[in-house]
Amino acid sequence: MGALFHTRGDVAVITLDNPPVNGLACDVRRGISEALDRVETDASLIAVVIIGGGKLFSAGADIREFGRPEAVAEPNLFSLLMQIEMMSKPVIAAVNGVCMGGGLELALGSHYRVAAPGTDVGLPEVKLGILPGCGGTQRLPRAIGVEPALNMVVTGESIKSEVLAAIPGQKLFDQLIEGDLLAGACDFARACAESRSTDLPLLRHVKASHPNAEAYFQFARNTAKGASRNFPAPAKCVDAVEASVKRTFDEGLAFERHIFRELLGTPESKALRHVFFAERAAAKVADIDAATARRTLDKVSVIGAGTMGGGITMNFLDAGRPVTILETTQEALDRGVATIRKNYEALVRKGKLAADKYERKMSLLRTTLDYTDIADADLVIEAVYEDLKVKEQVFRTLDGVMKPGAILATNTSTLDVNRIAEVTRRPQDVVGMHFFSPANVMKLLEVVRGKATSREVLATVLDLAKTIRKTAVVSGVCDGFIGNRMLDQYFRQASFLVEEGCSPEQVDRAIEKFGFAMGPFRVADLAGNDIGWAIRKRRYIEKPHVRYSRVGDVLCEMGRFGQKSGAGFYDYVEGRRDAVPSPIVKDLLVQFRKDAGIEPRKIGEDEIVHRLVWALVNEGARVLEEGISGKASDVDVVYLTGYGFPRHRGGPMCYADTVGLYNVVRSMRQYARNPNDDAAFWEPAPLLARLAAEGKSFS
Ligand SMILES: NC(=O)c1ccc[n+]([C@@H]2O[C@H](COP(=O)([O-])OP(=O)(O)OC[C@H]3O[C@@H](n4cnc5c(N)ncnc54)[C@H](O)[C@@H]3O)[C@@H](O)[C@H]2O)c1
Repeated sequence: MGALFHTRGDVAVITLDNPPVNGLACDVRRGISEALDRVETDASLIAVVIIGGGKLFSAGADIREFGRPEAVAEPNLFSLLMQIEMMSKPVIAAVNGVCMGGGLELALGSHYRVAAPGTDVGLPEVKLGILPGCGGTQRLPRAIGVEPALNMVVTGESIKSEVLAAIPGQKLFDQLIEGDLLAGACDFARACAESRSTDLPLLRHVKASHPNAEAYFQFARNTAKGASRNFPAPAKCVDAVEASVKRTFDEGLAFERHIFRELLGTPESKALRHVFFAERAAAKVADIDAATARRTLDKVSVIGAGTMGGGITMNFLDAGRPVTILETTQEALDRGVATIRKNYEALVRKGKLAADKYERKMSLLRTTLDYTDIADADLVIEAVYEDLKVKEQVFRTLDGVMKPGAILATNTSTLDVNRIAEVTRRPQDVVGMHFFSPANVMKLLEVVRGKATSREVLATVLDLAKTIRKTAVVSGVCDGFIGNRMLDQYFRQASFLVEEGCSPEQVDRAIEKFGFAMGPFRVADLAGNDIGWAIRKRRYIEKPHVRYSRVGDVLCEMGRFGQKSGAGFYDYVEGRRDAVPSPIVKDLLVQFRKDAGIEPRKIGEDEIVHRLVWALVNEGARVLEEGISGKASDVDVVYLTGYGFPRHRGGPMCYADTVGLYNVVRSMRQYARNPNDDAAFWEPAPLLARLAAEGKSFS
């Protein structure tokens, strides 16, 4: 790992060598610096080409160094760019594949840049709540103009090299090179060195300007603030780009550095960096590694063409993989296929999907009523009714017909995956694949590992998740797995809050202000209160000692199932989705409290938020303690990708760490003393209590 040096005639070539993405780790920076010194003192060399080893230039900083001293050890990127600027021989960055973040800053600091077409070029730092800290915000506007640069810095999105090279008057790419990039770059370097008459070009000497700077930056700042109200970084990115126009280059650099440090310390950036690592860590499971065998997955089949079966199928069609759906009747198949068509057609109408691509996707779809047609599938995903008897029957049939080694997956939300596995003679091949609705949109996939599921099957499904662009998190078997099990406690607590004096809209408003996309009661109305009702009937019959509020049940008894029945915790006007506070629910709650002998009280927003979030945290701690989840960051990923937990808070466990577990436990003990709440509910999970007492955190 580092930077390799070789020569091609009179041109020195420095190859970034740090797989998989040529992160600019300390050894790489040192390697570049030493190679540059060598070129400077070797009279036979006339120019330098910096190029990426493997398939790409560089994705920027090496994330493995984040937060460690190596990240800033000299030569840091800043010093390296100064060294390049002082070189007496031309330095040419030859970029291909990916040129992002620090990688792009390295290129921008070079004298010349050549690119392969198709290179992804970007400054994604804003996605981690920071901004490019080594001149990116100052040099990019000088290279491609203020407006395109500002868009790239504020959104963090990458743009293809050929699109950038087509910007009139741009100074980012001196040449696009088709074919052999290194050979082309060396020819270019030689030509630069030979034709040189004046000083070497540097972007610091270019002027950045905008004809209407004052109004433009104000507008951009307002837009950035409006679009990302919980994040300070986008508006700060505007400030930094503005400095490229209004200040000298060196002042701009110092200003950028100052903002970079300021943003690095914000809770939002800490949370986003936590999320970044948590999402990567989710794919890592203790007893699975590259050496674990994988099964081939060519043929996929889905059983059940309902809401979930259809959505699951679309994931595979989107990934260009053929799928066969099996149903019990032709009508059910036709209905399912029609829904898939309707979903795609809506995308075509909105211009989000080309008509020919739509047809290509549909051509991958097969349907059948006969199990023998799917007998040679490598993977079957069952998505039939949530009824153990029906599922057991399906798995018995699968056991009888499927070829040996096929993976048999169930999409059950609440049933026992071990029991389903036990009806087969191959429980090692059975696994849960719990998709979230709408399954073609939601990123989360809980991969449920049964007690017999083989490592090979688990590894294969985790790899598969990436190919259908899901974020997979492994869960053990329990009622509700990680996410819905925690959601149950969250909803239980939300219902205690309305019993005690809140209106549903107060609860929703408070948690939405905290950052959730939707509060618990709006979610319940959207998903259908009858689903929770059915689950509660089963769950609380099994656990009669557990206290829960019957408010939701009473609404269901009145036929108030939510949006689908025009009324739930809120009222709905026909054809609209706006939740309107309901006078009927208000009266019902008054009566409810009277019957229960509860004197209603006004509950503040902080208390609402904390009671709801600590409910998640406490159950999250139990999930960890029981080994249902392997790491606290996985619990965060489940909540961030499946339940709309605000990203800028980093997930429930990360948020609890930020507040301090000692404080979390202390406030739980305080809620336990509230006679209208449930003392047993607030009994801290032993893991939480222990970490709090030891002054530790989940992370
Ligand atoms: N809807 C959700 O939000 C959601 C989310 C995650 C998981 N799930 C789970 O997904 C599964 C399916 O849920 P859904 O909402 O899609 O239900 P659904 O009622 O929309 O679809 C079920 C489909 O299965 C078919 N079916 C029933 N028995 C069958 C059999 N023996 N063989 C073949 N097909 C059969 C039915 O004809 C129907 O089309 C359930 O286990 C559910 O718990 C649902």
